[in-house]
Amino acid sequence: MSIQLNSINCFYGAHQALFDVTLDCPAGETLVLLGPSGAGKSSLLRVLNLLEMPRSGTLAISGNQFTFAQPPSDGAIRELRRNVGMVFQQYNLWPHLTVTQNLTEAPCRVLGLSKDEALVRADKLLTRLRLRDFADRFPLHLSGGQQQRVAIARALMMEPQVLLFDEPTAALDPEITAQVVGIIQELAQTGITQVIVTHEVDFARKTASRVVYMENGRIVEQGDASHFTAPQTAEFASYLSH
Ligand SMILES: Nc1ncnc2c1ncn2[C@@H]1O[C@H](COP(=O)(O)OP(=O)(O)OP(=O)(O)O)[C@@H](O)[C@H]1O
Ligand SMILES: [Mg+2]
Repeated sequence: MSIQLNSINCFYGAHQALFDVTLDCPAGETLVLLGPSGAGKSSLLRVLNLLEMPRSGTLAISGNQFTFAQPPSDGAIRELRRNVGMVFQQYNLWPHLTVTQNLTEAPCRVLGLSKDEALVRADKLLTRLRLRDFADRFPLHLSGGQQQRVAIARALMMEPQVLLFDEPTAALDPEITAQVVGIIQELAQTGITQVIVTHEVDFARKTASRVVYMENGRIVEQGDASHFTAPQTAEFASYLSH
């Protein structure tokens, strides 16, 4: 199992956002989180790299284990984030760095790669994501879809075992969305585990090998991609039909 959550409860102050969330995802799967606004999808995604700290439950993800009896150490959280990368909706690229510099900064600083090693890795990824022509541009001089691809390339520079995406197609037109579908399908072939929050059912159907459907901070239904054609709950069936 690449990802295992057991009875995760998560709060924002007095507001409970996740209730007893239990979830299994084998390595190499592409898991899509679906549900209405406020269901807790982003909260659950952020728990996976401890950007949100659960109050109770257990989390095991790519060899990192957490019980939350005590707050995890900074070292354990750093180690987790080396294995579990995140692509944010707003891309979060550094505006004062070129595309190549955005890619090489963290691997040099965090993984201790030499400048040359990082440049070789960056060049391979920029080629793979068809971004090589933009290597020396600044993020603000790129389209939204190009920035999204740079954000994916930057996350892949760390060679994570798990890659998290929050609404990766939210601001993109259909053509660019199709490109992101292609990238996620390609990455799925590499053995990486992907977890994707989206509200676009069509995008989910094209990318998911597993699906989790949430409402009000609870998982209502989860399983393999056959649940898209044969939902097991009235709630998920209704969501799919809208
Ligand atoms: N930083 C925060 N502080 C307080 N409450 C929050 C915070 N972030 C989220 N919440 C609340 O937690 C609940 C779950 O929010 P979350 O962002 O996980 O939902 P979501 O399913 O991602 O929704 P959306 O589709 O709108 O992005 C909501 O009721 C939300 O208002
Ligand atoms: Mg969200």
